Formats: sequence, structure tokens, C-alpha cells
Amino acid sequence: MKIISASDYGSMSRKAANIISAQVILFPDSVLGLATGATPSGIYRQLIDWYQKGDIDFSKTHTVNLDEYCGLPSDNRQSYHYYMHSNFFDQVNIPEENINIPNGIAGDIDSECGRYDKLIAELGGIDLQILGIGNTGHIGFNEPDESFDKTTHCVKLKEKTIEANSKFFESPDQVPKYAITVGIKAIMQAKKLLLVANGSEKAEILYRSLFGPITPSIPASILQLHPDVTVIATEDVLVQIRKNKPDAIFERVLRRD
Ligand code: PGA
Repeated sequence: MKIISASDYGSMSRKAANIISAQVILFPDSVLGLATGATPSGIYRQLIDWYQKGDIDFSKTHTVNLDEYCGLPSDNRQSYHYYMHSNFFDQVNIPEENINIPNGIAGDIDSECGRYDKLIAELGGIDLQILGIGNTGHIGFNEPDESFDKTTHCVKLKEKTIEANSKFFESPDQVPKYAITVGIKAIMQAKKLLLVANGSEKAEILYRSLFGPITPSIPASILQLHPDVTVIATEDVLVQIRKNKPDAIFERVLRRD
């Protein structure tokens, strides 16, 4: 595992965007696993900027988003369909037919989950998966549980997640209680994982995920078993982690600003 320190949010976003653009330039037909939330939006802004300058071409790229709220139609401003289109897809040249996001308003959620796993398999799996980390330790919307949920499934969101995500809604009551999320298997089968974390409130959960026991009660802890993980965290996150475990983090910070 490589842990890269970024001086601030802009630097974190640029470093992550660099890894994604290298992937797309080297392998234009890559399958990118994409994430939503506050953390990755700077990455998308940077990629749009490089696209507009002619540095990246997404015309052969496929995308598979991690998750979507249940019950929100794609034109709802809080849906992840809306987020992805307004923050990224509408401003780059990924063909519409190459874009995949779970359908949160499918009549039959179970068959929608099955469809999604099948399409990821048909694409040959994910080449580079972008991940944020939730305060519960979730990746995608894989919330703490008694076992790791392998396949795409419908999940009841934890109160902590609803509270954290209420920043995007007018009130916590409006945050959907359920979501469809890609499971741990598709994430762990991705060839490369890129996790981004910004802000000291992520320090404790990131520390427990990267250095604590591997347990489904902290879903992100499974990343310790993946052979190719890059974590890019802002310095305020890493400073907090170093306070608890200077030896562990020092060994693993491979690049600094
Ligand atoms: P955030 O969400 O980027 O809005 O903090 C991260 C996540 O829940 O995965």
C-alpha cells in the first residue's frame, strides 16, 4: 500500500487526477470505477480542466459508479446520477452508452443488483477504482456489518452516514435511508484502488482502516488485503494518524509534496 501525503485538498485532487489520467492515457479503453461525495469532486474538476486543454480523451473509456440512493430519480439533484452528470460526465467525452450507475428507482431492486454485477463482469471488471471513505468506514455504501457483503446489494444506511450526507440535503429527513451499492467483491477485484481522504475528521477511521484489524465492522479495512492500493490523504489527516502511530505511517509515506 502506498500512502501519499497532499498538502491540501487541491493537491490531493491533482495527485489523484494524475493517476486517473495516466490510466486513461496508457489504456484509453479502461473501466473506471467512480465515486461520489464531497471528496472526489475536485478530482473531477481537474480531469475536466485537462480534458478541455486537450490532454485527455475519454472517448473509449467506460465507467461504473459505486452506488446510488434508492428512490431518487436521475433528475433529482441529490441523486448520484445528477451528481456525476453535473460534476463530470456532461463536461467530458465519455460516450453516454459507456456510463453505468445503479438504477435506484428500479422496480425490482434485486434484479437491478444482479444486472449491475453482470455488467461489471461483462466489462471484464474494473481497472481503476476511485474510493472515498465514510465516517463509518464504508467504501461505496458498504456499511459496517457482521460479514463483508460480496455482491451489489441494497443497504440500509447507518445513522452516521445519513447525518454526514445530510450536508447535501435541506434536512437529514430527506436523505434516503437505503442505497444500492457495488459489493466488496467487485471493489477488491479491481486491478488498482485509489482512495482519497480529506479533512481531519477522516483521520481516525482511516487509521483504523489501514492499520487496525481487518473486520467487516470497518469495511474499508479489507483494503489491506488488496495488492495495489494508493491512498492520497491531506496532511491534516496524516498528522493526526502520525500522532497515534508515527512508525507505521512513516514507513508508508512514500511521496511528499
Ligand atoms: P465524502 O463521502 O467524500 O462526502 O466525505 C465519502 C464517502 O461517504 O464515501
